[in-house]
Amino acid sequence: MLKNPKSVIYPMDEPSPTINFMGLRLDVFNDVYVPREDSFLLAKHTNKLEGNILELGTGCGISALANASRNPSNYVLGVDISQRAVNNANYNAKHNRISNATFVRSDLFSKVPKVRFDAVLFNPPYLPEEGRASKSMLDLALYSGKDGRAATDRFLEEVSPHLLPGGRAFLIQSSVTDIPKTLEKAHSLGFSAEILEEQSFFFEKLCLLELFRE
Ligand SMILES: C[S@@+](CC[C@H](N)C(=O)[O-])C[C@H]1O[C@@H](n2cnc3c(N)ncnc32)[C@H](O)[C@@H]1O
Repeated sequence: MLKNPKSVIYPMDEPSPTINFMGLRLDVFNDVYVPREDSFLLAKHTNKLEGNILELGTGCGISALANASRNPSNYVLGVDISQRAVNNANYNAKHNRISNATFVRSDLFSKVPKVRFDAVLFNPPYLPEEGRASKSMLDLALYSGKDGRAATDRFLEEVSPHLLPGGRAFLIQSSVTDIPKTLEKAHSLGFSAEILEEQSFFFEKLCLLELFRE
């Protein structure tokens, strides 16, 4: 949830930014999460994965589309609880002429078909809600339960049936939401976990976890 992403261009006459990333031009609609360091960390490590790929909370589609464009024989499904994000990702797929990625609205896995994927990606909302009364669509991208862990915990509990044997889950975590607690929960659910990359900033540490079963 870092501010001032370096590679964002804000056109003077449009309210929403455009991101140029890995040869893609990604427009970001109002009320959709603007990709930043956490987004780039996930996309950078997952764009070469092959097979059937699922991204939860896809936002404007950055990781799903980076993977789909780099691997034309992949099938990529991106879901988001926000219909605006789904529309945004579909728009970016069309305007980048990517036909092997599909986007649908889903609360985590609720509308995901009962098929298993080679990889499941998630950059979850992770800020504590701190008694916020109402939720805007953009709040859904940022806040997740009293301690910020609601989406992460649900993901860990529900991901297994969606992974092929040997499949991997890739999860962004922040020091804001207690990374050791996530590792402990993953282990208790039978996953091995590896930290693929950590990035430290003034006010938080970000990391990308890879989860798998031996
Ligand atoms: C931190 S943003 C990440 C967006 C994008 N993947 C990226 O990296 O830039 C989290 C995204 O998760 C979505 N989201 C939040 N809760 C969700 C849920 N229960 N099911 C599906 N998507 C959810 C939000 O709408 C938002 O687009």
